[in-house]
Amino acid sequence: MNVINQIKHVASPLARQTLLDGDLTRPVAGGRPIQLLPWLQVVKIGGRSIMDRGHEAILPLVDELRSLLPEHRLLILTGAGIRARHLYSVGLDLGLPVGSLAPLAASEAGQNGHILGCLLAPEGVSYVEHPTIASQLAIHLSAARAVVGSAFPPYHHHEFPTSRIPLHRADVGAFLIADALGAAGLTIVEDVDGVYTTDPNGPDGKQAQLLRETSAAELAKLKGTLPFDPALLEVMAHARHIARVQMVNGLVPGRLTAALRGQHVGSIIHTGARPA
Ligand SMILES: Nc1ncnc2c1ncn2[C@@H]1O[C@H](COP(=O)(O)OP(=O)(O)OP(=O)(O)O)[C@@H](O)[C@H]1O
Ligand SMILES: [Mg+2]
Repeated sequence: MNVINQIKHVASPLARQTLLDGDLTRPVAGGRPIQLLPWLQVVKIGGRSIMDRGHEAILPLVDELRSLLPEHRLLILTGAGIRARHLYSVGLDLGLPVGSLAPLAASEAGQNGHILGCLLAPEGVSYVEHPTIASQLAIHLSAARAVVGSAFPPYHHHEFPTSRIPLHRADVGAFLIADALGAAGLTIVEDVDGVYTTDPNGPDGKQAQLLRETSAAELAKLKGTLPFDPALLEVMAHARHIARVQMVNGLVPGRLTAALRGQHVGSIIHTGARPA
């Protein structure tokens, strides 16, 4: 029986092969994707490091975001913070699977986004849900200089079962959307000056050295904790557009503004993407 003759071919360079053979797919799928929103700056605001601190940390940062609006169009994404950590402990105690915890934690990140959305509402900024970010971000950013969303990626019940705590949290989500949109940049806002060799607030904090310029590959070799989701390093290695991310201290007025103006005021982390 000649199986080939029974297959109804379509005239397409990918029609006659599995998608697993890199040599065959590379000529078609190896090119750089287009940038959907090349003028967009994505800013991830830490849940624990900024939002959980309340008005002392939030209000000066909101003032700074407000004054950045004439200069930049922003996608502001919020992390989850302490409520998600409490949720993980209650959920894990009850035996909930990771796919049930992920959307609950994402909704905590969304709550922080709603808070920022309220504070920036007079400037026309609103909180928008994931489906809107996925399909209507451009129109929202035509109507307003910025929108706010939950930084969590919408894996929800499809979260990888590798660990009991969702692998793909706010930093991974912010990076994935920034890279997918071909944004101009991603800035991560925390309560420390950048990435250190060890946690500056931990027991070995005195020995911590600030890494002003580093790479995802170098950070992968560091033992100890990082101020972002460990899975971010793997995602960075395969980035298509975002060639560098800057992490800045959002408790120091002016740092975020300087970073968005291209100044080196925190830790710059180079990814696997080659600059265009
Ligand atoms: N290598 C490191 N360099 C810098 N900070 C570190 C490092 N390791 C741990 N940290 C700690 O990480 C803290 C920030 O915590 P974390 O990243 O969990 O907060 P967050 O980003 O605000 O949370 P979320 O992901 O919910 O938005 C810093 O205050 C710092 O103490
Ligand atoms: Mg963090």
